[in-house]
Amino acid sequence: MTSATTLLFFTIHFACIRAGNSSESFVKLECKTEYHGVYGQQLILECIVKPVVVDVTIITVTWKRMGAAAANLLEYHKEKMDLTPGFKFAEPSWNKKNMNVSLLLTNTNMADKGEYECMVTTDVGIATATTSLSVTAKYKTPTMSSIPETNIKENTDVTIFCNSTGGHQKWLIWWFDQFGTNWTRSAELVAKETDDGLFSLSSKFTVLKATSSYRNYTCEVLNVNGAKEGMASFVIPFVSRGEGRKGDNVDIVSTTKWLIPVVAIGSLIIILLAALLFFKRCSAQRGYQTDTRHDQDVEAEGLNSNRN
Ligand SMILES: *[C@@H]1O[C@H](CO)[C@@H](O)[C@H](O)[C@H]1NC(C)=O
Ligand SMILES: *[C@@H]1O[C@H](CO)[C@@H](O)[C@H](O)[C@H]1NC(C)=O
Ligand SMILES: *[C@@H]1O[C@H](CO)[C@@H](O)[C@H](O)[C@H]1NC(C)=O
Ligand SMILES: *[C@@H]1O[C@H](CO)[C@@H](O)[C@H](O)[C@H]1NC(C)=O
Ligand SMILES: *[C@@H]1O[C@H](CO)[C@@H](O)[C@H](O)[C@H]1NC(C)=O
Repeated sequence: MTSATTLLFFTIHFACIRAGNSSESFVKLECKTEYHGVYGQQLILECIVKPVVVDVTIITVTWKRMGAAAANLLEYHKEKMDLTPGFKFAEPSWNKKNMNVSLLLTNTNMADKGEYECMVTTDVGIATATTSLSVTAKYKTPTMSSIPETNIKENTDVTIFCNSTGGHQKWLIWWFDQFGTNWTRSAELVAKETDDGLFSLSSKFTVLKATSSYRNYTCEVLNVNGAKEGMASFVIPFVSRGEGRKGDNVDIVSTTKWLIPVVAIGSLIIILLAALLFFKRCSAQRGYQTDTRHDQDVEAEGLNSNRN
């Protein structure tokens, strides 16, 4: 082949691939069109090269993110690999004969959402495919706290916080007391966007003149569709009544602790005394008989002596 025919061959070959559909090429690249990733988890964007002929060798693989956050994530060219941290071939020991060119995202981020393009060059043709990725994140179970923190007196104002992080949109927080009354209107919600594109929510609700009959408050985190995603309850830590009641309980407990042995020992003593008394009375009765005789004798003796 002269260089001219080589050039012609390549031009025609290239033109065919260019003009043709991937279905007319010797290779096809099959990818799922969309993925839904979860923040902080790993994810595989699956793409498989489907050659029409056997024994195909892959020369180049390029994985790109398109659009605003465009970046080359993975480039393989003739044995050389160029990777962006967090991205690699899903196949642990991928090689040029492996038609599974899936991309692994080791730690899916909010910034990873968008369109992805995979391009594969083989010794029998080129194929390109795209896939789109959306990323969602869930709020964590809310944590609650109050100001003042502890030893709260009756009829003081108490501010309760309900905080949650990790969502990717501004969600809602609803408030209820233990009787199911909706206090959401009295609460104030602040949403802050964090560096990784997530939100932290903090809802503040002030109970005016809090009393211990209304001490249990619940907050619910709702997503944009209005579905409940998380909830937490908070019991206002009152000082006087709570501690007083506790003290009473302790008193009752210690009293019973004291009382049982005291009563037991007491009744034992009473029983013993009664037994002793009974025994004494019995022996006294018997003794009285002998004693009276003896006394009579003594008396008689006395009388006798007196008489003497
Ligand atoms: C690709 O092939 C499909 C049918 O397989 C056809 O409808 C479409 O027009 C073709 N596209 C091009 C650019 O030839
Ligand atoms: C491609 O490789 C990934 C990672 O090993 C695997 O999860 C996936 O099932 C493979 N796909 C096919 C079609 O073999
Ligand atoms: C909730 O957020 C508020 C305001 O940022 C903060 O004062 C409070 O300590 C937080 N509470 C918890 C339990 O994180
Ligand atoms: C609670 O109150 C909020 C604000 O008024 C309202 O949007 C929400 O629908 C109420 N929730 C329930 C369960 O009544
Ligand atoms: C507070 O109320 C919630 C919801 O009604 C309930 O699940 C929780 O057990 C209550 N907590 C206490 C300590 O009573």
